[in-house]
Amino acid sequence: MRMSTEPLAIHVSGLTKRFGALTAVDGLQMRVPQGAFFAFLGPNGAGKSTTLSLLTGLYAPDAGTVQVLGVDARKSLLQVKQMLGVVPEELSLFERLTGRQYLTFCGRMHGLSGSEAEARAEELLTLTALREKGAALVVEYSKGMRRRLAIAAALIHAPAVVLLDEPFEGIDVVAVGVVRELLAELSRRGVTIVLTTHVLEIAERLATHAGIILGGRMLDQGPLPELTERHQVSSLQAVFEKLIGAPASVQASLSFYGKNG
Ligand SMILES: Nc1ncnc2c1ncn2[C@@H]1O[C@H](COP(=O)(O)OP(=O)(O)OP(=O)(O)O)[C@@H](O)[C@H]1O
Ligand SMILES: [Mg+2]
Repeated sequence: MRMSTEPLAIHVSGLTKRFGALTAVDGLQMRVPQGAFFAFLGPNGAGKSTTLSLLTGLYAPDAGTVQVLGVDARKSLLQVKQMLGVVPEELSLFERLTGRQYLTFCGRMHGLSGSEAEARAEELLTLTALREKGAALVVEYSKGMRRRLAIAAALIHAPAVVLLDEPFEGIDVVAVGVVRELLAELSRRGVTIVLTTHVLEIAERLATHAGIILGGRMLDQGPLPELTERHQVSSLQAVFEKLIGAPASVQASLSFYGKNG
């Protein structure tokens, strides 16, 4: 892997996290340049969510270092948290607030004034197509609406780095377009984005960089053109298949179903 000197938004080195006998993240190296849109890809159980939880300080690592915009997460976790916006895989929202109140609350928690928090909440409700639902309690939100509210909440303090763990999960086709456009606009404004997704077309369309993880190790990472060139293929999907393997055929299995008819 080529080492470059460009300034990094996220610099992870030797990151390790064990759950009992299982090493979920295994000496991980990760370099996300400032302003990159980084697709963090890998199969189920590869260690993506665990890595993101380590970045946000939800878990303490067993070894390794995490730096966000040059700040060491071990030394200045609060400062790092302030620079990050996070949409976790498992959402935990306040059910008894309205969407509008929830966003305003998140803004206040990040130190915004009441009027600033309200103004941003309003703008984010519109941007995530939740305006009509702004006065409804979170408990009344559908799964996709919750996901969109969580995305809005992650952006309320205008973080320089946004981590999104499968933000498209459960979102309808129209809303996928809304969220995709929102992320593209953030990226154009210089926000660094790390996105995990199993939808490789979305990654291919949005990302400037990608990293592919398996068994807690980064198999390869870099700018998309560099990855495709290195693996002598023409798409991110093909890079992924080369490193991880193509989906298995089901033809040979399901024998207990017999032949139809
Ligand atoms: N709290 C936990 N306790 C024990 N094992 C865990 C825990 N969280 C994750 N693991 C294990 O760590 C490994 C990595 O899990 P992780 O959730 O990071 O994968 P992932 O890449 O996010 O997968 P997915 O695509 O399914 O979301 C898996 O083997 C998983 O079973
Ligand atoms: Mg996950």
